[in-house]
Formats: sequence, structure tokens, C-alpha cells
Amino acid sequence: MKKTIATLPGDGIGPEVTAAAVGVLRDCASAFGHQFEFREFPFGGNAIDRCNNPLPDETLAGCKAADAVLLGAIGGPKWDGLPLGTRPEAGLLGIRQQMELYINLRPIRLRSALRGISPLRHDRLDGCDFDIVRELAGDIYFGAHTFQRQAKDPSASDIAQYSAFEVTRVSRYAFERAAGRKKHVTSVDKANVLATSTLWRETVTKVGRDYPGVTLDHLLVDNAAMQILLRPAQFDVMLTGNMFGDILSDEASALAGSIGLIPSMSRGDVGKPALYEPIHGSAPSIAGKDLACPLGAIFSATLMLAESFGLKHEAQWIEDAVDRVLEEGFRTADVADAKSKTVGSAEFTRQIRNQLRKADPAATAKA
Ligand code: IPM
Ligand code: MN
Repeated sequence: MKKTIATLPGDGIGPEVTAAAVGVLRDCASAFGHQFEFREFPFGGNAIDRCNNPLPDETLAGCKAADAVLLGAIGGPKWDGLPLGTRPEAGLLGIRQQMELYINLRPIRLRSALRGISPLRHDRLDGCDFDIVRELAGDIYFGAHTFQRQAKDPSASDIAQYSAFEVTRVSRYAFERAAGRKKHVTSVDKANVLATSTLWRETVTKVGRDYPGVTLDHLLVDNAAMQILLRPAQFDVMLTGNMFGDILSDEASALAGSIGLIPSMSRGDVGKPALYEPIHGSAPSIAGKDLACPLGAIFSATLMLAESFGLKHEAQWIEDAVDRVLEEGFRTADVADAKSKTVGSAEFTRQIRNQLRKADPAATAKA
């Protein structure tokens, strides 16, 4: 298989974790005879420094022309003083909008070797394996933002907005996903207060009628935040808007033990390139210190293989190698415990790549 992958390493730990994921993809390509061509583009803070634009035209064009995009992370204190629309984050929101990436999938999976580091009691973790489907192109993120700084009493506003069309398209994805899993969608909103949530609930309910084999529940977001900690195993596909999805996915990542472990896929219509990135940020305080956990980026690469390229076997083959390395006790500092062999980011990645070079391409733990 021949694929072009645009890479956007970004800022902070972004370049370190992206390099780890690219290395793993290269090992995969040589083991299976695939050809992955990587094209790197400036993005985020480094693009502001180089081109005065967090999302240069050349970067957007390169991403649209690729088969998939692999992103590290963006932002940092260096650009914190900039006004909202010109910050590194504006590049991320811009690329989501320009590439029409309205679906964001964040799989919450626990690695058995890492159960010990979850802050949650083990009996509550049994059966915890769910997908967060976050709407990514609307909501309060993309409504008008105003700031009256000069007023005597300065004020600000952010408009939350959804159309039935926007809710419908992401809901269809969530129901399709659930149909291939445990057949249960939990939609999360604040329909007791917000008009957007009332529209959300009505629209999701309507879409649900087309999927009689999938059970639909609704939870208010405050209750959902609690249920994630009390009974995470009740969830299969959690469907929610952009803002609630941002918050709940950070919360849910803690179940796995570290936000450094969770990947994401952002996509739009079938046939268009999707973007893959760890859900963590650029972690400027640990950048360049060989401390970052590369697993969020590596699992983003395996998600790319499975979801964009249909290479599920290759994805499993890589995840098996990661699990073997974790079972041998190797850990980066964020997921370390008293018994582990705590190593730097580079050594941890080297251990994974060693495993891959030893591994039989034909064999995986799961079919
Ligand atoms: C995420 C991030 C972004 C978001 C930021 C960096 C704009 O937190 O991808 O979850 O809020 O969507
Ligand atoms: Mn976030």
C-alpha cells in the first residue's frame, strides 16, 4: 500500500512524540512492504514564528492533498500573549474548519499492563472501554467571540450555535460506530438549560430512529462527568458537542492513567483525509527533556492505520508490541510506578521499535 502522510509536529513535545510515531510507522512499512511517504509542514507556534500564520496556505494545501495527517501538539507560553484569532490554537481550529473535520473520535481504552496506575478502584474499571464522539466543527468554539475591553465594566460573550444538519451528521457517525460495538449511544447535553442542547437532544433522538438496533440514552453533562468516575463501564459510545466533549475527554483519559495515552481521529465525510493527534497538549514544561510519553502519538498512528487505511492487522501488531514493552515494565515517567523501569521518551520508543523489528508480521495477539 502506498500512502502520503502529512506531518505537523507543532510545538513543545509535539515534535518528539511525532518523531516516535513516524518511526513506528516506518517499521510497520518495512515489515509489511507498505510505502508511507511523510511530508512535514509548519503549524502552530513555529509557523507563527516562521510565516506569521499558525496555519500557512502551504500547510493546509499539503494536508488536503495527503491521505492522512499526523499532528503532534501546538501552543506554549511564548505565544500566550497573542490575541485569540492569531494564537497557535487558531491554527488548530482553522484546520478543523477548513478540512471540515466535524467528527472527533477519542477511544478510552485501558492497557492491562497499566491498570495499576489508574486513579480509579479496579473493580470500577472492569469492562471500561468506550468511544467519545465529540462534534468538532461547531458549538461555542465557532460562534462569534466578543470582548468589550474599554467599557467601564469590561464584558465578553461567546455564542454557542448548532444547526440540525451539524448535529445529524456527527450523530449518524456515533450510531454507526455503536452498531459495530456494544450498540449503545449515550448522548450528553445540558438540555435543561441550553437551547443548543434542546436542539441536540431532539436531533439525536430523530437520528436514533434510523438505528433501531442501537439503544439511545441521554445524560445531562454534569451527571455524565460524575458517571465517568462512578460507572465508566456503562458507556459504549458517548456522543457530545464540541465544548462538553473537550472537557469530558480529558476527564475520561484519567481513567487510563495518563492523558499521554489517548489518541484521537478527526474526520469529515468519507473519502476525505482525516487528521490524527494525541489529545494531550504541547506540555512546554517538559519539552526537550526526553520525558514525554509518545504513546498518545503512537496510538494516533495505529488509529490512522486502522481507520484511514483499513490496516487493522498492522495496527494491532504495533499495539501488541507496545503492550509487550509495558509488560516488561518499561514506562515513561507519567505512567511509572514503584516497580517499573522508568526510562526516557527516546529509550521507551527504542524499546517499542526493537520489539517491532523482532515481531512476526503475520502474528497478532487478537485476530
Ligand atoms: C483539544 C485541545 C484543543 C481544543 C485546543 C488546543 C484548541 O484542547 O484538541 O482537545 O480545545 O479542542
Ligand atoms: Mn482538549
